[in-house]
Amino acid sequence: MRLSRRQFVGLIGAAGLSGCARLGLDKVADKVKSVDMMPGSPGKVTFAVIGDIHVLDARSTGIVNKAMAMINANKDVRFTVMCGDLATDGNWPELKLAKSSLDRLERPYFSIPGNHDVCMKTKDIYANYRKLFDEADWRNEDEGWLFMGIDSTNEAKSDVSVRPDQIEWIQEQLKKTNGKRPIALFSHHPFNPNTKYRVQNADEVLGLFSGHNLKLVAAGHFHGNQEETRDGVLFTTTACCSSTRDNHDGTTSKGYRLFHIEKETITTEYVEVMA
Ligand SMILES: [Fe+2]
Ligand SMILES: [Fe+2]
Repeated sequence: MRLSRRQFVGLIGAAGLSGCARLGLDKVADKVKSVDMMPGSPGKVTFAVIGDIHVLDARSTGIVNKAMAMINANKDVRFTVMCGDLATDGNWPELKLAKSSLDRLERPYFSIPGNHDVCMKTKDIYANYRKLFDEADWRNEDEGWLFMGIDSTNEAKSDVSVRPDQIEWIQEQLKKTNGKRPIALFSHHPFNPNTKYRVQNADEVLGLFSGHNLKLVAAGHFHGNQEETRDGVLFTTTACCSSTRDNHDGTTSKGYRLFHIEKETITTEYVEVMA
């Protein structure tokens, strides 16, 4: 969840100081300690979600850089969430290249790791990711919504359960969140009720949100566009945005997703990126 100086300065220029507060940037340094007392006043927000860029080498950043330029050109996009699998084997050169591409974004971005962002050859398998992208879990607030990113990885496994320490972290966040506040959750592994690769303890994790106002769970990993609504929660996965990988559903389109929030309503659209 790192904002480069260029992003921060650019944001101040674009939004003004009061805008910064509205964007929740005042909470970046102290984001986990913030306490929600009121549901706030939900307004309009557009944000982008991009995942599975699977950077391998300089050439593979081409499609990612195109996506970054498209997001920058859309002045409605307030921030971007990177939904994991930035790299191929979680090694330093791949993650560094991925970060160079993401740093092209002119507005804030927040990242969570995927199973290809852990380096199984190092003692601390998350060390490379953390050095470049900061915490793997984060929360941020904007226009009355709570946005939460969770690290769903379990080593480099494709089929996972959310780890007990992550479940505790979610519980802590919810304890200090007003039950009426709309929540968007981001995870690399999907929670969609009918998806392949569904998180094995998805129902247990979703149960933690009972008594809260969960509206969205957006994920990657599946490499394909899926939208499903259950009990008022929108679940999505998105095509990969990679030239080194195919989609798992056999489709060929690569791209990212936009989400539009208006008060407590959230809608989504897929944006294709030509390689
Ligand atoms: Fe992936
Ligand atoms: Fe993945």
